[in-house]
Amino acid sequence: MARQFFVGGNLKMNGTKDSIKSIIEHLNSADLPEDVQVVLAPPAPYLSLAVDTNTHKNVEISAQNVYDKQSGAFTGEISAAQILDSGAKWTLTGHSERRTLIKESDDFIASKTKFALDQGLKVILCIGETLEERKAGVTLDVCARQLDACSKIISDWSGIVVAYEPVWAIGTGLAATAEDAQETHKGIRAHLAKTIGAEQAEKVQILYGGSVNGKNAPDFKDKVDVDGFLVGGACLKPEFVDIVRSRI
Ligand code: G3P
Repeated sequence: MARQFFVGGNLKMNGTKDSIKSIIEHLNSADLPEDVQVVLAPPAPYLSLAVDTNTHKNVEISAQNVYDKQSGAFTGEISAAQILDSGAKWTLTGHSERRTLIKESDDFIASKTKFALDQGLKVILCIGETLEERKAGVTLDVCARQLDACSKIISDWSGIVVAYEPVWAIGTGLAATAEDAQETHKGIRAHLAKTIGAEQAEKVQILYGGSVNGKNAPDFKDKVDVDGFLVGGACLKPEFVDIVRSRI
């Protein structure tokens, strides 16, 4: 089935008011295809600025993380209600940097994902294996374990976009080949068919993330299970527009 091409931009802990404003103003002036969903995730202090600066109807704003409680004594955390209050419609969950640096568990990520959905946010759920896991040949086992934590408590996946980001490709300049990405995405979709049902699995957009740039994005064009990208470093640069336009 045809799934909408989706390009996410994860700014990570980068940017200032001025730089984020100029990134979005560059997007505003770009000729973006109307059938592509673009979601940009600035650091939390700039969510409202990003929402207010954006003029493209198919560009939406995302948080990079969310907590799994409504409100209260959770210093430093951000609630789904506050993300929505900023005008953002999305959040990332499970990014590998939060799994490795902040030690977020599969179950905690699942709880945050479910809570965000229940509060009305859409979620980009990040999964992926480390280099050691890839070398050990357990890539799909790792992705399945990470996905199962969510499918155990979430039955409606219409608000979830999955981002497969092999940790060994993030920030390294060493992207997975389009063939490898397609094979892994196909395996992810086959696993989802067993847990959330074939109909939902067919509809879930699965993004590739890990050293995507304007030059290699077109390589993924004919990969039927690669529905888009989650871009890090390159979303800080004008070439992000080339990535959004890479399916034309
Ligand atoms: O979330 C996207 C990010 O992890 C990919 O980073 O810099 O390799 O595109 P990068």
